[in-house]
Amino acid sequence: MRAIQMSRFGGPEVLEIVETPTPMPGPGEVLVRVRAAGVNLSETLMRQNRYAVTPELPAVLGNEVAGVVEAFGTGVIGLPVGARVVAPLFAAGALVGGYAEYVLIDAGFVVPLPDALSFEIATALMIQGLTALYLVKQVPPHGKTVLISAAAGGVGSLLLQLAKHAEAKMVVAAASTTEKLNFARSLGADAGVNYTESDWVEQARAVSNGTGPDIIYESVGGTVTSDALKALAPLGQLVIYGALNIQSFQLGVPELLGLIFKNQSITGFAFASLLTPEKLKAGLVELFDLAVRGKIKVTISETFPLERVAEAHRALEGRRTTGKLMLVP
Ligand SMILES: NC(=O)c1ccc[n+]([C@@H]2O[C@H](COP(=O)([O-])OP(=O)(O)OC[C@H]3O[C@@H](n4cnc5c(N)ncnc54)[C@H](OP(=O)(O)O)[C@@H]3O)[C@@H](O)[C@H]2O)c1
Repeated sequence: MRAIQMSRFGGPEVLEIVETPTPMPGPGEVLVRVRAAGVNLSETLMRQNRYAVTPELPAVLGNEVAGVVEAFGTGVIGLPVGARVVAPLFAAGALVGGYAEYVLIDAGFVVPLPDALSFEIATALMIQGLTALYLVKQVPPHGKTVLISAAAGGVGSLLLQLAKHAEAKMVVAAASTTEKLNFARSLGADAGVNYTESDWVEQARAVSNGTGPDIIYESVGGTVTSDALKALAPLGQLVIYGALNIQSFQLGVPELLGLIFKNQSITGFAFASLLTPEKLKAGLVELFDLAVRGKIKVTISETFPLERVAEAHRALEGRRTTGKLMLVP
């Protein structure tokens, strides 16, 4: 089979197409013919060895795919050859393996795909959908004014819709361009602020009742995180779920005093540590149902054949995408 392999860390050029043996399913395993493989920002960081976990080399990046059951090992029931499924490799504890024509996965993590959902939409609902879903479950936006950074991105575009669905009082999108803010508004955001503008903190407060958002879901890091803290309302909660520019954010004495005197809190969030196999399945079933009923709109930014994987990484790193990016082997 063809796969995208990385033998050293570096720029997108380290992602090379290789021929490797197609794996054979062992007992309890399913072999899935990949029809869509998600590309996530975390993989661009892994490629540069800037992620929290270092993959062992050589590595095939990617850990979420949708596709068709090609074969299964002994003991697997209810997943016939030809069944449309999602294979959330991340849930099975795999950091890598998805940018390929076939993946092997423990049958216990395979979730059937409703006929009404495409492989691409299902792929967008795995890591990014579950992150957005569990963010609103962990920090409920009901009745609150919320601000979402990178609101036009994969997680952000779903999170803003799920926050509306969970009856947030107001959803403020934050992003780097007017086009992205317009896109976020088209998905239901009530207001938008461009955090590349020097007065964005004042803008964020002004559109949020003058006092600031009650909840900020933040993934950009660096000065956006420190500015978000300045924009936050008294009693507000800053939820940090991305570590993109983490090195440049400092929590010092002024910030701590601000937290104390404004009764605010900072919460960390990582969806993977919240997932049990049962929660994974329940979460995906909930997201699939919302998508099938048209309650959330899933946007596919672009799909790329395997051999154009470097372009996909460049687009994501270059902040040129809205919604989900994926490979279609
Ligand atoms: N904690 C968890 O469990 C969890 C799970 C999944 C993802 N995440 C995190 O959620 C965030 C969003 O992930 P995603 O896959 O959905 O990506 P994405 O939002 O589709 O793309 C990243 C967006 O971040 C913004 N950005 C700001 N500075 C950037 C930079 N230096 N390089 C690239 N992008 C930058 C850009 O939007 P603007 O141009 O509008 O700024 C860009 O479009 C990431 O930080 C990811 O690590 C966390």
